[in-house]
Amino acid sequence: MIPSFVEEGATDILLTRDEIGRRVREMGEEISRHYAGGPPLLMIGLLKGSILFTADLVREMSIDVEVDFISISSYRGRSTSSGSVRLLRDLDRDVYDRNILIVEDIVDSGLSLSYIRNALLARSPRSLAIAALLDKRQRRVSEVPVDYVGFQIPDRFVVGYGLDYRQRYRGMPYIAVLDPAEICDEDPS
Ligand code: PRP
Repeated sequence: MIPSFVEEGATDILLTRDEIGRRVREMGEEISRHYAGGPPLLMIGLLKGSILFTADLVREMSIDVEVDFISISSYRGRSTSSGSVRLLRDLDRDVYDRNILIVEDIVDSGLSLSYIRNALLARSPRSLAIAALLDKRQRRVSEVPVDYVGFQIPDRFVVGYGLDYRQRYRGMPYIAVLDPAEICDEDPS
């Protein structure tokens, strides 16, 4: 059966499949230009939200890249940095003296990226940059430099294209605003 991709509760589309595709292509071209002529770029996807963005961005790169993934326990629902956040899955590769690019689906408070950025900087890469598809600028708690931004978006709960609500909606090829009626106040963890 062919899925309709019109998920109940997420019908208010913020970014269409075409809009995302065009912007990811532009980002791939810009990032490729920046690293052209250098050693292979190591692209590091932050699980799980960035899986679709990472897969698409890699395909838009015109230079040689390597791909790896990293995962941390969630900052969701926390307003400040917490010592209990930890690395759940580390990289397979050493990043010492490598050009690395962290690939993230959305920057909200910035706490997840700050944590990962600091953890990876401590391993002495040659350079570290960050690409994020979505930026909810007004939600920022931790200032983290984002080098490549796909879209600035308003402070709404968005799902699709890798982003979930309680693990749902990740497979939708577009990004939609979740109907507030769908959001339950209980801790989703
Ligand atoms: C989401 C999202 C980002 C992070 C952004 O991940 O994918 O990684 O939150 O929020 P922040 O800027 O406030 O830290 P989540 O922890 O929900 O895990 P997931 O990627 O597995 O969905």
